[in-house]
Amino acid sequence: MFSWPGLIGRFLDLTPKRAAESATEMVQVVLPNDANPLGFILGGTVMHLIDIAGAIACHRHTRSLLVTAAVDDLQFLHPIKVGDLIILKARVTCAFRTSLEAQVDVYSEETLTGRQQLTSRAFLTFVAVAQDGTRLAVPPLLVETDEERRVCEEAKLRREGRLRKKVESTTRS
Ligand SMILES: CC(C)(COP(=O)(O)OP(=O)(O)OC[C@H]1O[C@@H](n2cnc3c(N)ncnc32)[C@H](O)[C@@H]1OP(=O)(O)O)[C@@H](O)C(=O)NCCC(=O)NCCS
Repeated sequence: MFSWPGLIGRFLDLTPKRAAESATEMVQVVLPNDANPLGFILGGTVMHLIDIAGAIACHRHTRSLLVTAAVDDLQFLHPIKVGDLIILKARVTCAFRTSLEAQVDVYSEETLTGRQQLTSRAFLTFVAVAQDGTRLAVPPLLVETDEERRVCEEAKLRREGRLRKKVESTTRS
């Protein structure tokens, strides 16, 4: 196969894709090494996994290199204990020009009972880049149902808010 690092991602296939084509689920068990002294998974570990899950969904959508541009504010609604499973469900919500948003829902699952709880919901923005940092146009997201249209419209509103915040934080002295 033709492969030259300088060209990675320069010729993205811009065929529109469905969110289902890139939807990603990651599951792992929480081990003592991931936990604080209370036996709960570290927030930083959850953030790392959220970044990975969101990036995988976006890589599957774009098939390009990506950088994380933004992670929206994050809450940890319930602890996830050592021995529980942590489940991350990521999907692309909307594709813009060179950036796209992923939603990552995090659940805990008790291994002995199967009880699941939503513990966090995160929205991340990734930018498609070539090896030299050039921004690349991303494939459009096919939105076919009313639900998908709603999700994408909400993502557009969040994007406006993020870009507003970015201007505010870069103009603040
Ligand atoms: C993210 C980054 C590429 C944006 O670069 P920039 O020159 O400020 O932005 P650009 O004008 O090139 O915009 C590129 C896209 O990113 C979007 N974007 C830029 N900053 C953004 C932000 N804070 N939130 C959401 N989207 C953002 C733009 O809207 C644009 O998307 P669009 O083409 O779909 O409209 C750049 O700031 C960067 O490389 N940051 C570091 C990334 C990184 O290392 N991440 C790992 C964690 S530190």
